[in-house]
Amino acid sequence: MKKNKIYIKSYGCQMNVYDSNRILDLFRNKEYEIAEDPKDANLVVLNTCHIREKAAEKVYSDIGRINKIKKNESKDNFKLVVAGCVAQAEGKEIKKRAPSVDFVVGPQSYHNLPDMLDTSDRIVSDEFTQNEKFKNLLYNSSGGVSEFVSIQEGCDKFCSFCVVPYTRGPEFSRPVSDILIEIEKYVNQGVKEIIFLGQNVNAYHGIGEDGKSKDLAYLVNKVSEIEKLSRIRYMTSHPIDMTDSLIETHKTNTKLMPFLHLPIQSGSDKVLKDMNRKHTVDFYRKIVEKLREERSDIALSSDFIVGYPNETDKDFEETMKFVNDVEFVIAYSFMYSQRPGTPAQKKDNVTLADKKARLSALQSLLKEQQKNYNKSFIGTNMEILFEKKGRHQNQYIGRSIYNQSVFAKSDNNLINTIKNVKILNSTDFALESSI
Ligand code: SAH
Ligand code: SF4
Ligand code: F3S
Repeated sequence: MKKNKIYIKSYGCQMNVYDSNRILDLFRNKEYEIAEDPKDANLVVLNTCHIREKAAEKVYSDIGRINKIKKNESKDNFKLVVAGCVAQAEGKEIKKRAPSVDFVVGPQSYHNLPDMLDTSDRIVSDEFTQNEKFKNLLYNSSGGVSEFVSIQEGCDKFCSFCVVPYTRGPEFSRPVSDILIEIEKYVNQGVKEIIFLGQNVNAYHGIGEDGKSKDLAYLVNKVSEIEKLSRIRYMTSHPIDMTDSLIETHKTNTKLMPFLHLPIQSGSDKVLKDMNRKHTVDFYRKIVEKLREERSDIALSSDFIVGYPNETDKDFEETMKFVNDVEFVIAYSFMYSQRPGTPAQKKDNVTLADKKARLSALQSLLKEQQKNYNKSFIGTNMEILFEKKGRHQNQYIGRSIYNQSVFAKSDNNLINTIKNVKILNSTDFALESSI
């Protein structure tokens, strides 16, 4: 009999990467093999993202491509599944707009996917059953050096531009003991770095072994007791959940890496208020001050949206000034994209030309900061955790404690080792080193 083969494509954030790994676990358990190309598969899963219009529309063009493959297969044998945040937000529309899609499954109910495939109905499964989901997943390492672990999901913050509260549902934190079991499994399979994931990861408040609610600082300290684990990171954080105890953990816990992704979105208080971000620019600056007092070398990263409704040139200048003052080692910036169902949806009134000009100015500044930051390491020594082979012969790629990509050449296999290297050169996005 021909083997079943699954092909999965992940769009969007790291949480989708984690979910895709869990979906693969479920199907490996059903004796499926993994296909590298949809042409070789008889089950194709598109694990989608709804955050901006472009991301969501890409799914429909991919469905079109998969359809061509599907037409060449016998109908019973080839199944197309749309999973993830577009599935949650537009489940019924997908079935109408793309009749070739067999199943639609949201981010909190994909544990049901293997059973769904056994039914003949074309189901839309979009319940928010986080608790149920995490209990029914399998947790196998994807074989890498670093592994994502979702510890928190969903969001109760309702920033006016954002679909996440609607696609991922209410905030949910997993119990400490479940997380520990999962991580120990990965570490026993050789994993050296764990990256805690959550849409608001620092709002974590899972139940501890004593039945009481625990915060992220507690979890970091608890997980760092696992001896064979070398590094811990977490993302994405919200400024209002950046507690003093978490800030202090950056000083006291040597396994917690000195890198923090802390989105602010805008440097204008007026825009932040319109966005319903629940913090001011000054509040953010104070967090940065505290962080730098505890851990002077901490590397900061952020997200920005330009062209939010009613953003003026003056508001944008405030963002530029803020970036100039704080200095980020890397940051992601986006033009505002209207999203269905969000409170900001009706007011997209900044012209595309203005959005483009602002994005370009902000990105040049951020790129300059990143370039200068990377340059400042030339001639220094750094501890690098090597993760994978590079494109060139004997080349390996790893990460610095500040999350920079670092290249090195070696005749020995460096993968899954931590080496002290000398930085020789830097590009805008990476460092080159010698061992
Ligand atoms: N939970 C994180 C971010 C999740 S979404 C937080 O609270 O910051 C990742 C990033 O996408 C956001 O930080 C934001 O910069 C961007 N984003 C979200 N919705 C967007 C929209 N409608 N248009 C443009 N960018 C958006
Ligand atoms: Fe979206 Fe805001 Fe929640 Fe982040 S905090 S996921 S931006 S609603
Ligand atoms: Fe996209 Fe959903 Fe992540 S909308 S960014 S895949 S939480």
